[in-house]
Amino acid sequence: MTLLNKQYWQQRYLDNRTGWDLGTVSQPIKQYIAQLTDKNLNILIPGAGNAHEASYLFHNGFENLSILDFAQEPLNNLRKQLPELKEATYLNQNYFDHTGAYDIIIEQTFFCALEPRFRESYVEKSFELLNKGGFIVGVLFNFEDKLNGPPFGGSIKEYRLLFESYFDINIMEQCYNSTESRKGKEFFIKLTKRNNGN
Ligand SMILES: C[S@@+](CC[C@H](N)C(=O)[O-])C[C@H]1O[C@@H](n2cnc3c(N)ncnc32)[C@H](O)[C@@H]1O
Repeated sequence: MTLLNKQYWQQRYLDNRTGWDLGTVSQPIKQYIAQLTDKNLNILIPGAGNAHEASYLFHNGFENLSILDFAQEPLNNLRKQLPELKEATYLNQNYFDHTGAYDIIIEQTFFCALEPRFRESYVEKSFELLNKGGFIVGVLFNFEDKLNGPPFGGSIKEYRLLFESYFDINIMEQCYNSTESRKGKEFFIKLTKRNNGN
């Protein structure tokens, strides 16, 4: 199997093979963000790619943003589009090496880009990076293929089992407001950090 490392993803951006990129903010995430009132929330977008969610957040008054990706190319793209963002916003790093403290982690086609053997590490890392009461919000794919990715999918049953020792599952259900090309293909999730995981 292809090694899904930094070079692999960087090359996909250089070759313009970015079929996952919606070209705009994901609808369900946009609608969720639109009803947040606290603009001081500290928000992390891991595996952010071209980070359309970051642009949407920034243009809607959220400035405590951290945009993380281990491929350099999309971060460079975003720098050109949003020169107003502080340099500290950009984190060119492996998610699993990152340290920090956030109120919200936005999930948009990052989890599905990881080899399934890293899923538990994703859960543990996200738990570690969130403040008390912090949560993951976003979308997960709802198809079960875990061999032919990326993207790698999963079922609600499996996602529940994976997250429930570390997170309260506030929402994990079929998404009703997906972007057209993702209709019927994603679950909306909101998972709040439990006081003591495990
Ligand atoms: C499928 S793309 C999704 C990008 C973006 N979220 C979007 O929806 O357009 C997955 C992204 O995760 C990044 N990535 C994969 N594994 C990573 C890791 N361990 N640490 C940081 N970034 C990672 C890749 O470089 C890529 O930009």
